[in-house]
Amino acid sequence: MIKVGVLGSGTMGAGIAQVAAQAGHLVFLVDSNLLALDKAKLNLEKTFEKLVEKGKFSREEADLIISRITFTIEKSSFAPCEIVIEAIIENLDVKHLVFKEIEEIVSQECILASNTSSLSIASIGSVLNNPSRIIGIHFFNPAPLMPLVEIIPAVQSSIEIIEKSKKLIDSWKKIGVICKDTPGFIVNRVARPFYGEALRIYEEGIADFATIDWAMTEIGGFKMGPFTLMDYIGNDVNYTVTETVFEAFYYDPRFKPSFTQKRHKEAGFYGRKSGRGFYSYLESIEKPAPNKDLKVGTEIFDRIIAMLINEAYDALFLNVASAEDIDLAMKNGVNYPQGLIKWSEEIGLEKVLSKLQSLFAEYGEDRYRPNVLLKRLVANKNN
Ligand code: NAI
Repeated sequence: MIKVGVLGSGTMGAGIAQVAAQAGHLVFLVDSNLLALDKAKLNLEKTFEKLVEKGKFSREEADLIISRITFTIEKSSFAPCEIVIEAIIENLDVKHLVFKEIEEIVSQECILASNTSSLSIASIGSVLNNPSRIIGIHFFNPAPLMPLVEIIPAVQSSIEIIEKSKKLIDSWKKIGVICKDTPGFIVNRVARPFYGEALRIYEEGIADFATIDWAMTEIGGFKMGPFTLMDYIGNDVNYTVTETVFEAFYYDPRFKPSFTQKRHKEAGFYGRKSGRGFYSYLESIEKPAPNKDLKVGTEIFDRIIAMLINEAYDALFLNVASAEDIDLAMKNGVNYPQGLIKWSEEIGLEKVLSKLQSLFAEYGEDRYRPNVLLKRLVANKNN
């Protein structure tokens, strides 16, 4: 078993440390904040208390897993590690400082990975003496429960590092997908229309939040509707991801953030965690009822799914990832009922394309432009 270092013992770092320890590795979990380390340890103990109660682990197994993790403020403990995964604050300057420091501590062979959601892996690795060992290893929250891990080689990464990282993640019983070092990687890019188009439909006055959520869950089969999901993620977090992706894509109108969500964020209507988002979470307030008009519901679903499929094809067209990995990512990173490429074949590519073409013709907005690959595939079918 190799030794694994994790830097940052917050939400993600603690979860990643748990995953590695469950896979049998000795883990060194380092944080500059002693209180954060104490909290991580306490939370882990509580988690395993529950897992033992539920019969998922015996007491002995749970104790063994916890004992594999060393909680420390000393980065020097990374010395024997074959991989260090960084999960600290999302700030490039701070990440540069810590990676330079870690490179001095670890062996030449040690993989240096970042769990960043929004920074480019190339930019993080640029400060290393040996940048060929940098890679993105992006877990989803909560890391112990979500199967997906996006593996993101930077332009500097060596083939050997990519293969080693993929093998390691697979051995942790995770679903590792390889994707290009581009904004939002797979999931945070392809999922944008689920929120953006839902907000747009609301802003146009076509339907209210409850009706859009009903259409996507009841007609579309999604586990949560877009507004319930945004409230769950937090409008502050979700809005920031959208804004970051929009900026990173040089303001491509496809990713334009919504004023409705911005105002909710500005008002502190973050969602569940603040007691109010698009919905109220006070017990005394009943959830609004949807208008279960099938015609309206189908129109909502057709429009959002066409936009999602268009985005999946855009990622495929630009070689962000393979069709198989794009589908695996959406199923295992955000629980979509099925992969978007497979879904497009089920719905029929002609139908999806025709929906996009009619939206594009009606609105004249670039956000509705159909992807070239989708157009080519339909043209080839008809020839
Ligand atoms: P967090 O705020 O929960 O934890 C960050 C931890 O890093 C804190 O305990 C802090 O004390 C520690 N830290 C900050 N600077 C440090 C330094 N210089 N040296 C050592 N420790 C330091 O943050 P979270 O949410 O766990 O995010 C961490 C990283 O993971 C970020 O890059 C974020 O973009 C990424 N990420 C977050 C996800 C999420 O849903 N929260 C999902 C996937 C990736």
